[in-house]
Amino acid sequence: MPEYDFSGKVAFVTGAAHGQGRSHAQHYAKHGADVVALDINHNKDTVPYDLGTSDELDETASLVEDEGQEALTVEADVSDEAEVEAAVEAAIDEFGRIDILANNAGIESMAEATEMDEAIWDELIDTNLKGVWLCAKHVGKHFIDRGDGGKIVNTASVSGFTGIPLGNAHYISAKHGVRGLTKTLALELAEYDVNVNAVAPTAIDTPMVSGMLEAYGEEVLDEGGSALSGPFNIFDEGAMLESRDITEAYLWLSSDAARYVTGITLPVDAGFLAK
Ligand SMILES: NC(=O)c1ccc[n+]([C@@H]2O[C@H](COP(=O)([O-])OP(=O)(O)OC[C@H]3O[C@@H](n4cnc5c(N)ncnc54)[C@H](O)[C@@H]3O)[C@@H](O)[C@H]2O)c1
Repeated sequence: MPEYDFSGKVAFVTGAAHGQGRSHAQHYAKHGADVVALDINHNKDTVPYDLGTSDELDETASLVEDEGQEALTVEADVSDEAEVEAAVEAAIDEFGRIDILANNAGIESMAEATEMDEAIWDELIDTNLKGVWLCAKHVGKHFIDRGDGGKIVNTASVSGFTGIPLGNAHYISAKHGVRGLTKTLALELAEYDVNVNAVAPTAIDTPMVSGMLEAYGEEVLDEGGSALSGPFNIFDEGAMLESRDITEAYLWLSSDAARYVTGITLPVDAGFLAK
């Protein structure tokens, strides 16, 4: 991993109890940042697998502390504005500042667009799109008030670039929305020296994917990744990437090395979009 220096900085990581968020939290700490690790700590009715728990969030905090950095755990739902606002206030009370927002929390579920219950649509859009905006809104206000810049990295998906006929109209819509939100935030926050970018992962080996495989079977990847859209990994068809592959992009986009990069959505997609 290249050497980044985030010493003196505070990274606010959403969806940090496990999966990609835990990896982002651990590696921001490895490179010197203190970490606010936020997660929801309860399941959602429309999501067919377990979300993060408070024990897992504590384990993330331990991993941060093992790197010699401080961790604050916050249980909050990114789709609830009052909870997001309180989480941002708690972070600033604890550390005095936030420098990096790793806007990663997300959920997945499946239903054909013509069969989808409104609750499935609403819960996913509220988390994967509104939640990204709410965190950017409240951390962005802090960046503006503080006046010395900041970094926002959102998690989109290859599903933000292309349609996938896999009962994912809501997810595809949310992730396309994250790309649009990223561009707009980049334009609005540039005068405050804030970079806003997104990362678009292909299939990553996390509890989200293992939970979806358990709930729906192998067709989750076969149809979405291979038969209909081309391989989700052209180097090694069928092999998922690791969370750390996405963390690398997060670290770069959060660093001064990417100071003139803003408004982009960077695919880390093992060639998925090359077809
Ligand atoms: N795994 C993949 O193949 C893949 C591919 C492309 C994009 N993504 C995106 O990457 C991000 C991380 O996904 P992951 O694979 O690590 O999933 P994951 O389910 O393993 O982890 C997501 C974390 O977000 C938390 N979370 C969910 N809803 C929340 C809410 N309302 N408030 C606070 N926390 C909440 C969960 O509890 C969980 O800890 C998501 O935005 C996802 O859509 C994942």
